[in-house]
Amino acid sequence: MGQDVANKNGFNQSVPQWIQSLSRVKLLEVISSPDGPLARQVIEQADLIRSETMGAEVHLRGLVEFSNYCRNNCLYCGLRRDNRQISRYRMSPAEIIQAAEHGAQLGYKTVVLQSGEDPAFSGEIMAEIIREIKKLGLVVTLSMGEREPQEYQLWRDAGAERYLMRHETADEALYDRLHPGQTLAKRIFLLKTLKSLNYQVGTGFMVGLPGQTAETLLADLDLARQLEAEMVGIGPFIPHPSTPLGKDPGGTLEQTCIMVALIRIFLPYALIPATTALGSISTLGRESALRAGANVVMPNLTPRIHRADYQIYPGKICLGEEAAECRGCITRRITDIGRTVSDGPGHHPKWSPGS
Ligand code: SAM
Ligand code: SF4
Ligand code: FES
Repeated sequence: MGQDVANKNGFNQSVPQWIQSLSRVKLLEVISSPDGPLARQVIEQADLIRSETMGAEVHLRGLVEFSNYCRNNCLYCGLRRDNRQISRYRMSPAEIIQAAEHGAQLGYKTVVLQSGEDPAFSGEIMAEIIREIKKLGLVVTLSMGEREPQEYQLWRDAGAERYLMRHETADEALYDRLHPGQTLAKRIFLLKTLKSLNYQVGTGFMVGLPGQTAETLLADLDLARQLEAEMVGIGPFIPHPSTPLGKDPGGTLEQTCIMVALIRIFLPYALIPATTALGSISTLGRESALRAGANVVMPNLTPRIHRADYQIYPGKICLGEEAAECRGCITRRITDIGRTVSDGPGHHPKWSPGS
């Protein structure tokens, strides 16, 4: 578990021994008391590690939410198949490319193309969209859920460099309950497949899911490390009223920030977003995550007409703002906390595109 975090990660001498050798018991203690003094020290150390390994730069990724159709029925998500309360939309390939173009004009170096699991976007249609966006000189990240390995290969060949697909929870029984018809084993298999295709792979999980324990969260950290994830997205679970979990309590800022800090310690070179979900439950949530080890933000690039319909959870920020406003807002927020907006592609330092 945590006992040899240090050796695996090759920390330099400035990281105190007690952090390097956080025992399993201590880790569970920190996770269970996210407001406690030990948690505060862990967050401070994670922030220091981030500054040593990744510097002051924050990488921006422009997020295009191009379809809210989903064939899955994840119990927590507002886009789930059985939610009849939302109006469904699909952007056309031309609209998606146009949104990416707008992102490039606003200075984004990466676009993230995210959707529900929508088979209407065939492998070939997506490959064509990717090829067009690559002509703009952008890095392409995909987040479209579980697809065939051949499709992942096709999209990698078309130029996509990164894939985000959270494992959501490392507890198999909880995974089964939350994802009817899906399995954790398949998700892990596909994450490993993406790795073998030389994508930079993002996993991650929600904090505060009903039935989740400190042990589960520790298993989440371990799984992200075992997968050697290049990116790890950690956000609070936010109950959506039109889902079966609508009446359950959600995750908190403190619980989420301590997990962000711990993943920075577990994976010192990872790209770790300060998630929109955290910014949605707390005005300065993203800033708190950036001070707890995060170094990525994903502002919204989706055309405004569609924003409200991509309602994964209620209270999502940036529904009324134009993409340019979000770009300006996030730059101010980053500089206000003494950090800088990166001008580079923001790849994982140990990744190379290959031939
Ligand atoms: N369909 C793709 C997938 O599941 O990987 C990408 C889109 S999905 C909406 C993106 C992420 O939203 C999921 O990985 C999940 O962790 C998060 N999410 C869904 N419902 C949520 C909720 N109620 N609160 C917080 N995050 C949520
Ligand atoms: Fe679909 Fe992703 Fe939401 Fe699950 S989390 S219902 S796969 S959009
Ligand atoms: Fe969208 Fe601040 S990032 S308004």
